Amino acid sequence: MSFRCEHLSKSFAMRDGFVQALDDVTFSVGEREFVSIVGPSGCGKTTLLKLIAGLLRPSAGSVVPSAAPDDGRPASALVFQEHGLFPWMTVLENVAFGLETRGVGRSERHERAMTFISSVGLAPFAHAWPHQLSVGMRQRVGIGRAFVTDPRLLLLDEPLGSLDAQTRFLLQEELLRLWTRSRSAVVYVTHDIEEAVVLGDRVLVLTGRPGRIQGEITVPLGRPRKLEYAVDEKVTALKWQIWKMLEEEARRSLALSTREPVSSVEEPVP
Ligand SMILES: Nc1ncnc2c1ncn2[C@@H]1O[C@H](COP(=O)(O)OP(=O)(O)OP(=O)(O)O)[C@@H](O)[C@H]1O
Ligand SMILES: [Mg+2]
Repeated sequence: MSFRCEHLSKSFAMRDGFVQALDDVTFSVGEREFVSIVGPSGCGKTTLLKLIAGLLRPSAGSVVPSAAPDDGRPASALVFQEHGLFPWMTVLENVAFGLETRGVGRSERHERAMTFISSVGLAPFAHAWPHQLSVGMRQRVGIGRAFVTDPRLLLLDEPLGSLDAQTRFLLQEELLRLWTRSRSAVVYVTHDIEEAVVLGDRVLVLTGRPGRIQGEITVPLGRPRKLEYAVDEKVTALKWQIWKMLEEEARRSLALSTREPVSSVEEPVP
Protein backbone atom coordinates (compact mmCIF):
# COMPACT_ATOMS: atom_id res chain seq x y z
CA MET A 1 0.00 0.00 0.00
CA SER A 2 1.18 3.52 -0.80
CA PHE A 3 -1.10 5.31 1.67
CA ARG A 4 -4.55 5.22 3.24
CA CYS A 5 -7.00 8.02 4.04
CA GLU A 6 -9.07 7.12 7.09
CA HIS A 7 -12.30 8.98 7.86
CA LEU A 8 -10.82 12.19 6.58
CA SER A 9 -12.79 15.39 7.13
CA LYS A 10 -11.79 18.99 6.59
CA SER A 11 -13.46 22.24 7.64
CA PHE A 12 -12.15 25.73 7.01
CA ALA A 13 -12.76 28.41 9.62
CA MET A 14 -14.39 31.48 8.09
CA ARG A 15 -15.24 34.83 9.66
CA ASP A 16 -18.89 33.82 10.08
CA GLY A 17 -18.56 30.08 10.74
CA PHE A 18 -17.10 27.05 8.99
CA VAL A 19 -17.05 25.67 5.47
CA GLN A 20 -16.88 21.91 5.47
CA ALA A 21 -15.02 20.77 2.35
CA LEU A 22 -14.76 17.01 2.95
CA ASP A 23 -16.65 14.55 5.11
CA ASP A 24 -15.54 11.09 6.20
CA VAL A 25 -13.43 10.13 3.19
CA THR A 26 -11.81 6.69 3.39
CA PHE A 27 -9.82 4.95 0.65
CA SER A 28 -6.39 3.53 0.01
CA VAL A 29 -3.97 3.65 -2.91
CA GLY A 30 -1.60 0.76 -3.60
CA GLU A 31 2.06 0.91 -4.65
CA ARG A 32 2.29 2.01 -8.30
CA GLU A 33 -1.47 2.18 -8.60
CA PHE A 34 -3.14 4.88 -10.73
CA VAL A 35 -6.29 6.14 -9.02
CA SER A 36 -8.52 8.76 -10.65
CA ILE A 37 -10.79 11.03 -8.64
CA VAL A 38 -13.67 12.58 -10.52
CA GLY A 39 -16.18 15.06 -9.16
CA PRO A 40 -17.82 18.43 -9.79
CA SER A 41 -16.30 21.79 -8.96
CA GLY A 42 -16.21 22.55 -5.24
CA CYS A 43 -16.57 18.96 -3.96
CA GLY A 44 -13.18 19.10 -2.26
CA LYS A 45 -10.79 17.45 -4.76
CA THR A 46 -7.96 19.95 -4.35
CA THR A 47 -8.48 19.97 -0.59
CA LEU A 48 -8.14 16.18 -0.58
CA LEU A 49 -4.84 16.31 -2.50
CA LYS A 50 -3.47 18.97 -0.15
CA LEU A 51 -4.39 16.83 2.85
CA ILE A 52 -2.64 13.82 1.32
CA ALA A 53 0.43 15.95 0.52
CA GLY A 54 0.50 17.22 4.12
CA LEU A 55 -0.07 20.85 3.06
CA LEU A 56 -3.28 20.95 5.12
CA ARG A 57 -4.07 19.35 8.45
CA PRO A 58 -7.28 17.25 8.62
CA SER A 59 -10.06 18.37 10.98
CA ALA A 60 -10.73 14.69 11.66
CA GLY A 61 -9.29 11.40 10.47
CA SER A 62 -5.81 10.81 9.13
CA VAL A 63 -3.61 10.07 6.13
CA VAL A 64 -1.49 7.02 6.84
CA PRO A 65 1.51 6.56 4.53
CA SER A 66 2.97 3.13 3.92
CA ALA A 67 5.87 2.15 6.12
CA ALA A 68 8.32 2.01 3.19
CA PRO A 69 12.08 1.88 3.81
CA ASP A 70 13.77 5.26 3.42
CA ASP A 71 15.49 5.05 0.03
CA GLY A 72 15.79 8.81 -0.40
CA ARG A 73 12.72 9.14 -2.63
CA PRO A 74 10.29 11.95 -1.78
CA ALA A 75 7.06 10.72 -0.18
CA SER A 76 4.90 12.74 -2.55
CA ALA A 77 4.91 15.45 -5.21
CA LEU A 78 1.91 17.63 -6.03
CA VAL A 79 1.29 19.23 -9.42
CA PHE A 80 -1.12 22.10 -8.84
CA GLN A 81 -4.18 22.84 -10.92
CA GLU A 82 -2.44 25.95 -12.30
CA HIS A 83 0.75 24.02 -13.19
CA GLY A 84 2.79 26.56 -11.22
CA LEU A 85 6.07 26.86 -13.10
CA PHE A 86 8.37 29.51 -11.69
CA PRO A 87 8.31 32.30 -14.29
CA TRP A 88 11.79 33.47 -13.33
CA MET A 89 13.34 30.06 -14.06
CA THR A 90 14.04 28.47 -17.43
CA VAL A 91 12.55 25.08 -18.34
CA LEU A 92 15.78 23.38 -17.26
CA GLU A 93 15.89 25.23 -13.95
CA ASN A 94 12.21 24.50 -13.30
CA VAL A 95 12.69 20.76 -13.85
CA ALA A 96 15.93 20.74 -11.82
CA PHE A 97 14.25 22.60 -8.96
CA GLY A 98 12.58 19.50 -7.50
CA LEU A 99 15.99 17.81 -7.37
CA GLU A 100 17.52 20.86 -5.72
CA THR A 101 15.00 20.59 -2.90
CA ARG A 102 16.15 16.96 -2.53
CA GLY A 103 19.72 18.12 -2.03
CA VAL A 104 21.05 16.81 -5.38
CA GLY A 105 24.21 18.71 -6.45
CA ARG A 106 24.10 21.25 -9.27
CA SER A 107 25.80 19.31 -12.05
CA GLU A 108 23.92 16.08 -11.31
CA ARG A 109 20.56 17.81 -11.15
CA HIS A 110 21.14 19.62 -14.43
CA GLU A 111 22.24 16.37 -16.06
CA ARG A 112 19.20 14.46 -14.77
CA ALA A 113 16.82 17.30 -15.66
CA MET A 114 18.33 17.56 -19.15
CA THR A 115 18.05 13.79 -19.73
CA PHE A 116 14.42 14.01 -18.75
CA ILE A 117 13.72 17.08 -20.89
CA SER A 118 15.31 15.36 -23.91
CA SER A 119 13.28 12.19 -23.33
CA VAL A 120 10.04 14.17 -23.66
CA GLY A 121 11.26 16.03 -26.75
CA LEU A 122 11.63 19.44 -25.11
CA ALA A 123 15.43 19.75 -25.49
CA PRO A 124 15.18 22.72 -27.89
CA PHE A 125 13.28 24.59 -25.17
CA ALA A 126 15.53 23.75 -22.22
CA HIS A 127 16.70 27.35 -21.92
CA ALA A 128 13.35 28.97 -22.77
CA TRP A 129 11.28 30.83 -20.18
CA PRO A 130 7.79 29.55 -19.29
CA HIS A 131 6.06 32.50 -21.02
CA GLN A 132 7.74 31.48 -24.28
CA LEU A 133 6.00 28.06 -24.23
CA SER A 134 2.50 27.03 -25.23
CA VAL A 135 0.12 26.10 -22.40
CA GLY A 136 0.47 22.41 -23.33
CA MET A 137 4.26 22.61 -23.16
CA ARG A 138 4.08 24.30 -19.77
CA GLN A 139 1.83 21.49 -18.52
CA ARG A 140 4.38 18.94 -19.75
CA VAL A 141 7.18 20.73 -17.91
CA GLY A 142 5.07 20.87 -14.74
CA ILE A 143 4.33 17.14 -14.91
CA GLY A 144 7.96 16.39 -15.78
CA ARG A 145 9.21 18.38 -12.84
CA ALA A 146 7.21 16.12 -10.55
CA PHE A 147 8.20 12.83 -12.21
CA VAL A 148 11.91 13.63 -12.30
CA THR A 149 12.15 13.41 -8.49
CA ASP A 150 10.76 9.83 -8.62
CA PRO A 151 8.25 10.33 -5.79
CA ARG A 152 6.48 7.39 -4.16
CA LEU A 153 3.22 9.19 -4.78
CA LEU A 154 2.39 11.71 -7.46
CA LEU A 155 -0.65 13.92 -6.84
CA LEU A 156 -1.95 15.53 -10.04
CA ASP A 157 -4.67 18.18 -9.82
CA GLU A 158 -6.38 18.49 -13.20
CA PRO A 159 -3.02 18.75 -14.94
CA LEU A 160 -4.57 18.73 -18.43
CA GLY A 161 -7.65 20.76 -17.55
CA SER A 162 -7.02 23.81 -19.68
CA LEU A 163 -6.04 22.02 -22.90
CA ASP A 164 -7.86 21.43 -26.15
CA ALA A 165 -9.06 17.89 -26.82
CA GLN A 166 -6.23 16.95 -29.21
CA THR A 167 -3.41 18.17 -26.99
CA ARG A 168 -5.06 16.58 -23.98
CA PHE A 169 -5.22 13.23 -25.80
CA LEU A 170 -1.50 13.38 -26.65
CA LEU A 171 -0.53 14.38 -23.14
CA GLN A 172 -2.64 11.61 -21.60
CA GLU A 173 -0.56 9.22 -23.69
CA GLU A 174 2.67 10.85 -22.54
CA LEU A 175 1.58 10.83 -18.93
CA LEU A 176 0.87 7.10 -19.08
CA ARG A 177 4.27 6.52 -20.69
CA LEU A 178 6.05 8.46 -17.92
CA TRP A 179 4.08 6.68 -15.23
CA THR A 180 4.83 3.23 -16.71
CA ARG A 181 8.56 4.02 -16.60
CA SER A 182 8.35 5.41 -13.07
CA ARG A 183 7.75 3.67 -9.77
CA SER A 184 5.18 6.20 -8.56
CA ALA A 185 1.61 5.67 -7.45
CA VAL A 186 -0.63 8.37 -8.94
CA VAL A 187 -3.73 10.13 -7.66
CA TYR A 188 -5.21 11.95 -10.64
CA VAL A 189 -7.94 14.54 -10.12
CA THR A 190 -10.12 15.44 -13.09
CA HIS A 191 -13.54 16.81 -14.03
CA ASP A 192 -13.55 14.59 -17.09
CA ILE A 193 -15.29 11.21 -16.66
CA GLU A 194 -13.72 9.67 -19.76
CA GLU A 195 -10.23 10.74 -18.76
CA ALA A 196 -10.74 9.26 -15.28
CA VAL A 197 -11.71 5.90 -16.78
CA VAL A 198 -9.15 5.72 -19.59
CA LEU A 199 -6.22 6.53 -17.28
CA GLY A 200 -7.13 4.95 -13.95
CA ASP A 201 -6.94 1.49 -12.43
CA ARG A 202 -9.77 2.66 -10.18
CA VAL A 203 -12.07 5.68 -10.23
CA LEU A 204 -13.31 7.31 -7.02
CA VAL A 205 -16.41 9.44 -7.47
CA LEU A 206 -16.53 12.38 -5.08
CA THR A 207 -19.73 14.42 -4.83
CA GLY A 208 -21.55 16.90 -2.62
CA ARG A 209 -20.66 19.81 -0.39
CA PRO A 210 -18.98 18.64 1.75
CA GLY A 211 -17.48 16.07 -0.62
CA ARG A 212 -18.08 12.42 0.16
CA ILE A 213 -17.13 9.30 -1.77
CA GLN A 214 -20.21 8.38 -3.72
CA GLY A 215 -18.76 5.22 -5.24
CA GLU A 216 -15.67 3.46 -6.46
CA ILE A 217 -15.22 1.66 -9.77
CA THR A 218 -12.48 -0.73 -10.82
CA VAL A 219 -11.53 -0.26 -14.48
CA PRO A 220 -11.26 -3.68 -16.16
CA LEU A 221 -8.85 -2.58 -18.91
CA GLY A 222 -5.34 -3.97 -19.40
CA ARG A 223 -1.99 -2.21 -19.26
CA PRO A 224 -0.26 -0.72 -21.10
CA ARG A 225 -3.41 1.30 -21.63
CA LYS A 226 -4.09 2.28 -25.22
CA LEU A 227 -6.06 5.45 -25.73
CA GLU A 228 -8.17 3.61 -28.30
CA TYR A 229 -9.94 2.39 -25.19
CA ALA A 230 -11.80 5.69 -25.23
CA VAL A 231 -14.08 4.13 -27.87
CA ASP A 232 -14.29 0.72 -26.17
CA GLU A 233 -17.79 -0.27 -25.14
CA LYS A 234 -16.58 -1.21 -21.65
CA VAL A 235 -15.46 2.40 -21.22
CA THR A 236 -18.79 3.69 -22.48
CA ALA A 237 -20.61 1.55 -19.91
CA LEU A 238 -18.34 2.76 -17.08
CA LYS A 239 -18.75 6.39 -18.14
CA TRP A 240 -22.50 5.96 -17.95
CA GLN A 241 -22.28 4.30 -14.53
CA ILE A 242 -20.20 7.24 -13.23
CA TRP A 243 -22.48 9.81 -14.84
CA LYS A 244 -25.45 8.29 -13.02
CA MET A 245 -23.58 8.87 -9.73
CA LEU A 246 -22.94 12.50 -10.67
CA GLU A 247 -26.17 13.32 -12.45
CA GLU A 248 -28.38 14.32 -9.55
CA GLU A 249 -25.90 16.80 -8.18
CA ALA A 250 -25.03 18.18 -11.61
CA ARG A 251 -28.72 18.81 -12.32
CA ARG A 252 -29.26 20.31 -8.88
CA SER A 253 -26.42 22.77 -9.36
CA LEU A 254 -28.00 23.91 -12.63
CA ALA A 255 -31.46 23.85 -10.99
CA LEU A 256 -32.62 21.33 -13.60
CA SER A 257 -35.25 18.79 -12.69
CA THR A 258 -34.77 15.07 -13.41
CA ARG A 259 -38.48 14.81 -14.22
CA GLU A 260 -39.74 14.35 -17.75
CA PRO A 261 -40.31 17.69 -19.48
CA VAL A 262 -43.85 18.99 -19.05
CA SER A 263 -45.88 18.77 -22.25
CA SER A 264 -46.16 22.13 -23.92
CA VAL A 265 -49.43 21.24 -25.65
CA GLU A 266 -51.98 23.77 -24.46
CA GLU A 267 -55.46 22.84 -23.37
CA PRO A 268 -57.98 23.84 -26.05
CA VAL A 269 -59.86 26.98 -25.14
CA PRO A 270 -63.54 25.99 -24.50
N1 LIG B 1 -8.34 27.76 2.11
C1 LIG B 1 -9.67 27.70 2.11
N2 LIG B 1 -10.39 28.46 2.95
C2 LIG B 1 -11.74 28.40 2.97
N3 LIG B 1 -12.45 27.58 2.18
C3 LIG B 1 -11.79 26.79 1.31
C4 LIG B 1 -10.35 26.81 1.23
N4 LIG B 1 -9.96 25.90 0.28
C5 LIG B 1 -11.10 25.38 -0.20
N5 LIG B 1 -12.19 25.89 0.42
C6 LIG B 1 -13.60 25.52 0.17
O1 LIG B 1 -13.69 24.11 0.21
C7 LIG B 1 -14.56 23.63 -0.81
C8 LIG B 1 -13.81 22.66 -1.70
O2 LIG B 1 -12.82 23.37 -2.43
P1 LIG B 1 -11.79 22.65 -3.40
O3 LIG B 1 -10.91 23.69 -3.97
O4 LIG B 1 -11.15 21.52 -2.69
O5 LIG B 1 -12.79 22.06 -4.52
P2 LIG B 1 -12.45 21.36 -5.91
O6 LIG B 1 -13.26 20.09 -5.97
O7 LIG B 1 -10.98 21.23 -6.07
O8 LIG B 1 -13.05 22.40 -6.97
P3 LIG B 1 -12.54 22.70 -8.47
O9 LIG B 1 -12.97 21.49 -9.29
O10 LIG B 1 -13.30 23.92 -8.87
O11 LIG B 1 -11.06 22.88 -8.45
C9 LIG B 1 -15.10 24.86 -1.53
O12 LIG B 1 -16.34 25.20 -0.94
C10 LIG B 1 -14.06 25.92 -1.23
O13 LIG B 1 -14.63 27.21 -1.23
MG1 LIG C 1 -9.62 22.00 -7.45
